[in-house]
Amino acid sequence: MTTVDVALGARSYPIHIGPGLLDEPSRWRDAIGGHHVLVVSNATVAPLYLARIEAALGGLQHASVVLPDGEQHKTFDHVARVLDALAGLGASRDATVVALGGGVIGDLAGFAAACWMRGIAFVQVPTTLLAMVDSSVGGKTGVNLPAGKNLVGAFHQPRAVVIDTATLDTLPPREYLAGLAEVVKYGAIGDAAFFTWLEDHAGALLAREPAAVIRAIAESCRYKAGVVARDEREDGERALLNFGHTFGHAIESEAGYGTFLHGEAVGIGMLLAARLSADLDRAPAADADRLERLLERLGLPTHVPADLDAEALLARMRLDKKAVSGHLRLILWRALGAADIVGGVADEAILDVLRRGRTTG
Ligand code: NAD
Ligand code: GLY
Repeated sequence: MTTVDVALGARSYPIHIGPGLLDEPSRWRDAIGGHHVLVVSNATVAPLYLARIEAALGGLQHASVVLPDGEQHKTFDHVARVLDALAGLGASRDATVVALGGGVIGDLAGFAAACWMRGIAFVQVPTTLLAMVDSSVGGKTGVNLPAGKNLVGAFHQPRAVVIDTATLDTLPPREYLAGLAEVVKYGAIGDAAFFTWLEDHAGALLAREPAAVIRAIAESCRYKAGVVARDEREDGERALLNFGHTFGHAIESEAGYGTFLHGEAVGIGMLLAARLSADLDRAPAADADRLERLLERLGLPTHVPADLDAEALLARMRLDKKAVSGHLRLILWRALGAADIVGGVADEAILDVLRRGRTTG
């Protein structure tokens, strides 16, 4: 087992990473205090792993809530279901919520934990690669509104993150690859040596070789843990984790939710941001070429669909949460492995990169 610590003073917590951790509760159960535990999962993940979590909770008073699967269910209504279940369990302030699933369940269950009695403990047990390397670490929790994704939420750090890498065995290939895009992001924004390692181990990662997968998860968590420890509330550096996201969110919503997985759209967005950085003479074009080659090797899309209009994409980019007073701010490269928040980029430059990034024919 590898353990990475998120250093936040009294709220510090471990991220345990390894195969079979669900069956080795002695390695993580001390993160659960009190007597009441509510496990939150969904209809896809619960049949696969809930019984093993329940076995690990022997001796505690526990219950579970199984929500329907899908981003469209990341709503207040389902938070209310979790809160009702906590009430039904008789959960006191020392109760713990365990989030078993991908980012949707982690965000929602974490938000419910932040709300119950103004905040109780929760443990993240992520089962998608994206959740293992990104959403389970750092304490951003929340739900969607009809007006937009993740508009409501709270910063609420987990007590522990338990990553059983063997749960990836059941993850569909497309979800796995989308998670790899977020892994590439960490190399791209902050660690050129890790990016090179990913280039060298792309084949092993595609084959899901355990040692390579564990190393990729551990390096990603280590990087994100460092950023979160330095800038928990996203006053500065944490915004760099949104590399590719302003373009990516626009592509995701303009293509229609469900067309692209989030990680796929972020992959295209990272490449557009890299190309724009080169256009603005901020970073070498050869670095953007390297990023394109790695994304292609990992089987990720690298082009904006031909039917998406550049003006419409730019309009969507303006709704980004990083925009200040209506002015767009983008994460751009200084070089592969080094990024900055940049404002004042001319619309024409953004439109140009969007048009050139489209598939042809
Ligand atoms: P997801 O939770 O919808 O999971 C993707 C799919 O995989 C679902 O159908 C799920 O049921 C299934 N699944 C999960 N684990 C499985 C397993 N081991 N075997 C088989 N199927 C499995 O999606 P996601 O990509 O994990 O997370 C996306 C969500 O994360 C979004 O809501 C996004 O806003 C959020 N997010 C949050 C943060 C954060 O910092 N809090 C960061 C990034 C993304
Ligand atoms: N996913 C971006 C963050 O956690 O800040």
